[in-house]
Amino acid sequence: MALRCCNCSTPTTVIGMIEELEPADGHTVLEIGTGTGYSTALMCHRLGEDNVTTIEVDPQVAARADAALEEAGFSTWTVTGDGLLGHPPRAPYDRTIATCAVRRIPYTWVRQTKPGGIILATLGSWPWGTGLAKVTVQEDGTAEGRIIGRSSFMQARSQATAPLAGDLSARTAYADTERPAKVPPTLLDEWTPSFLAQLSAPGAQLVRATADDGTKLLHLFDPERESFAAFTEDTAGWTVRQGGPVALWDGIERSLMAWQGAGQPDIGTVRLRITERSHVYWIGKEPVLRWEHRVA
Ligand SMILES: C[S@@+](CC[C@H](N)C(=O)[O-])C[C@H]1O[C@@H](n2cnc3c(N)ncnc32)[C@H](O)[C@@H]1O
Repeated sequence: MALRCCNCSTPTTVIGMIEELEPADGHTVLEIGTGTGYSTALMCHRLGEDNVTTIEVDPQVAARADAALEEAGFSTWTVTGDGLLGHPPRAPYDRTIATCAVRRIPYTWVRQTKPGGIILATLGSWPWGTGLAKVTVQEDGTAEGRIIGRSSFMQARSQATAPLAGDLSARTAYADTERPAKVPPTLLDEWTPSFLAQLSAPGAQLVRATADDGTKLLHLFDPERESFAAFTEDTAGWTVRQGGPVALWDGIERSLMAWQGAGQPDIGTVRLRITERSHVYWIGKEPVLRWEHRVA
């Protein structure tokens, strides 16, 4: 049985994730992202093949995993489809685990997980700076928990970010403001600041490019909100030009400065509450370190 389906998941991280799922005898599990079937096989071994339901969006990958699982002796429930919808026919589950990254935890997963049950999923839309969320479903239909550490997986297909096309200089031609940046945008090379930037400006993409004259360019684009921030560096430091209805960098910068002021807490201090309508993230009690993402 093959162990890898892509570069983002290693057997070690998958094992660590399954441990975080706190599986116990008799638990039922919903897995999103069957991939090779490796993590599915581990959970079948621990919980029994009938207690594991796994969903894979790619029919060929699903067929390969199903065959590999059969070969390994597990006739489990391999479903082909969009895992963001969960799998209602076998719900509710004691545990839900996603081995692909999501921008937000679909409320369908909360609905399909029993009260007291755990949902584990990688949150974020950038290729780095993503966090592993562990939340427990409450009796009132909400889910609460925190980001328990760094995690990196390929994006769930239907939530994947479309790569930006076209001329970057045209996208940044009309700036509304220009000023020195108060924190260097290179802070976004670090994992936790990068995660906080995604909380501050969900939908923004960080793009690095090189101009014809060799100058390194750094941009943030939010195509949905038609906004951008473009950075340039000289001997005096970084300058940011911003355009569009949302000053992307203003919000990110405020969060990063508050994070620095709070002593640069680790990603593991980010707490999370999910309701049908929103995801609320926060660190401590500082209002600037609180982000609400509403579904509508
Ligand atoms: C990192 S791999 C999964 C690794 C897997 N757990 C293993 O042990 O091999 C991510 C998988 O998620 C699948 N995927 C992406 N979006 C999905 C979606 N919306 N629903 C179900 N599967 C999805 C991809 O096709 C890919 O096979």
